[in-house]
Amino acid sequence: ETQKDQVKSTNIKVEDFDLTREDYEKRNGHKGCVLWFTGLSGSGKSTIAKALMAELHAQGKHVNSLDGDNVRFGLCSDLGFTAKDRSENIRRIGELAKLFMENGNIVLCSFISPFQKDRDFVRSILPDGRFFEVFVDTNIETCIERDPKGLYKKALAGEINGFTGIDSPYEAPQTPEIHLKTDQLNPEEFLQELITQLQAIL
Ligand code: PPS
Repeated sequence: ETQKDQVKSTNIKVEDFDLTREDYEKRNGHKGCVLWFTGLSGSGKSTIAKALMAELHAQGKHVNSLDGDNVRFGLCSDLGFTAKDRSENIRRIGELAKLFMENGNIVLCSFISPFQKDRDFVRSILPDGRFFEVFVDTNIETCIERDPKGLYKKALAGEINGFTGIDSPYEAPQTPEIHLKTDQLNPEEFLQELITQLQAIL
């Protein structure tokens, strides 16, 4: 079953807008793409994405950033952390990222996105070569030690149920486009690595 077969509305039609992705990309001087940062809570996804966003913005590139702060309070405020809700969270964000990408933007998405099938879904709705899975690979011991929001402490004390890495699974990407091993490089070095890899793509 294709995605179009699952659409519930009838009598809807995709408008043929005059402006295409190619028009936006020509104006912007770079391609649109989605960089999908996945990793445990406290792994550093948002921190790295924010630093990259600032750098790309300074270079005059068109960038958008989506993360828990701007999504779980708004677009996905009806969702919690069950497996079903997490999948729906990622599906909505993927569709939103696609819309931004179609307007020629570089879209940085930072979500735990613990399930491979959900990350694969986002990949499947984007054109080939426009989705980059960035694995922010920080081991759980380090995340527990950092515990910036005190949530691991609560989860370990049994005060939060279904916390990723404690009593809810995290499926590490097996073949990410970019693998950031945070115990081997410092943040400045990741940023450089990301920018170098991006230059080759854009
Ligand atoms: S998901 O799994 O991709 O839908 O999660 P995401 O939207 O990225 O939200 C993760 C942030 O929510 C906080 N939080 C939890 N994380 C994991 N498991 C449970 N049960 C949970 N409850 C709340 C947590 O602070 C995550 O923040 P980050 O920014 O990832 O550290």
